[in-house]
Amino acid sequence: YTFLETTLVTLSLLPHFIAFFSDVEIPGSPSALATTFLTFVLNLAFSLSVLGFMIMHISLVSGNTTTIEGI
Ligand SMILES: *[C@@H]1O[C@H](CO)[C@@H](O)[C@H](O)[C@H]1NC(C)=O
Repeated sequence: YTFLETTLVTLSLLPHFIAFFSDVEIPGSPSALATTFLTFVLNLAFSLSVLGFMIMHISLVSGNTTTIEGI
């Protein structure tokens, strides 16, 4: 669920993030832009790290083991 939530936030902020780097004049205060930027970067990083955990646990479950047995 954490992966789904962080991925959803990342994808919904992606157009704002792309607009940030294009020459288009973006409406909004500088603090709102900074918040959007920071939220995008943090959610992307968290989503990728949780994706790693999810892949690891899917492979453990498909091999009929737990994290402790798998090590
Ligand atoms: C999964 O492992 C457990 C414990 O080793 C075993 O009892 C069970 O039969 C296994 N299930 C499958 C589907 O292999």
